[in-house]
Amino acid sequence: MLLPGVTLIAHRLPAPRTTAAPARVPASTTPLLTVDLATVTSSYGALRAVLPGVQLHYAVKANPSLMVLRTLARAGARWDVASPGEIDLVLGVDPDPSHLSYGNTIKKSADIAYAFARGVRTFVLDCARELDKLTEHAPGSEVLVRITTSGRGADWALGTKFGCGEAEARELLLEAVRRGHRVGVCFHVGSQQRDVHAWDEPLATTARLRAAVRRQGSDLSTVDLGGGFPAHTQVPTPPIAAYGLTIVDAIATHLGPDLPRIIAEPGRFLVADAGELEAEVVLVTERGGTRWVYLDIGLFGGLAETLEEALRYRMTAYRDGAPIEGPVGGVVLAGPTCDSADLLYIKHRPLLPLDLRDGDRVILHATGAYTTAYSSVGFNGFAPLREVDR
Ligand SMILES: Cc1ncc(COP(=O)(O)O)c(C=O)c1O
Repeated sequence: MLLPGVTLIAHRLPAPRTTAAPARVPASTTPLLTVDLATVTSSYGALRAVLPGVQLHYAVKANPSLMVLRTLARAGARWDVASPGEIDLVLGVDPDPSHLSYGNTIKKSADIAYAFARGVRTFVLDCARELDKLTEHAPGSEVLVRITTSGRGADWALGTKFGCGEAEARELLLEAVRRGHRVGVCFHVGSQQRDVHAWDEPLATTARLRAAVRRQGSDLSTVDLGGGFPAHTQVPTPPIAAYGLTIVDAIATHLGPDLPRIIAEPGRFLVADAGELEAEVVLVTERGGTRWVYLDIGLFGGLAETLEEALRYRMTAYRDGAPIEGPVGGVVLAGPTCDSADLLYIKHRPLLPLDLRDGDRVILHATGAYTTAYSSVGFNGFAPLREVDR
């Protein structure tokens, strides 16, 4: 409705006449994620080496690019998928559906039926209604019951939305056995987990659940250790060998000597360190005595894990292809969009050169996981994050 006295005049304006050649959207080489596939292969080998006998199901959500999937397929990986889209993607690279586990606890009946029709036979759930859906649409499949974890020690906790307590898990396992399913237990200790002991408590719970299943004359077919193995961010983490030693020890203590199939679902560890994200500095300015740096990528362009400053990426500033030398100072770092939520770091201020100016480049290291997949389709008209291999 128009305000009194206001009339629309747009229709009286003459149509604009264009004489100049149409302008082009300026070409931009950034933001760009470069993934080093040799590093993906070596990370896979490193995790295999420290977790002997554990099948690695790559959590496809971390980086679903075909080049990453093909690299991991060549290395011998199996797959943790979260949706029919990921099932199709993976089966295009590795046609054996027995290599897939459907790790999402929240599934439409139609999606369960689709997965089953494509040959997937391992599904994760954490409540009775999902078990009903599964018995109906994926009869006889293996059911992994996800138990909750505290998420302590993780930079990106996954405990609130998923998993059930021990008593509920016992009920679900016993009911699943009664319905003719093979059963297992699964958990996720939280992503970017910095405490190597985080797997101990859920493995102790798993052992008690196993005892209950055995009393019913059955056994666990699989124990799934989830993901959580860390990337190299600004916050130090123990070496991967320390994770391996501690977890192997906890498995032997709680589940040995007669082990079920043990699998893990690493995402971040396999791909994060392989990725370097190049961004352009759009603006450097002072606001109330603080230096603000705006990049051409932010929360909506793929850096969603900076939410609440959870993941603190390492950074290097470049000019004309060389690192910028000289004194550095803390900055507030923000993305390029017209949304005030598009703030990367305001509490933990990254150190960047005092001489930094627009047109310079900032490389964000260890960004091969959870970046391209999170990138919006075009918020504010910015294109989704591109990815190339090296
Ligand atoms: C079910 C499930 N498995 C595995 C992963 C991979 O975890 P990470 O990247 O910490 O290894 C995730 C991550 O969100 C997940 O949700």
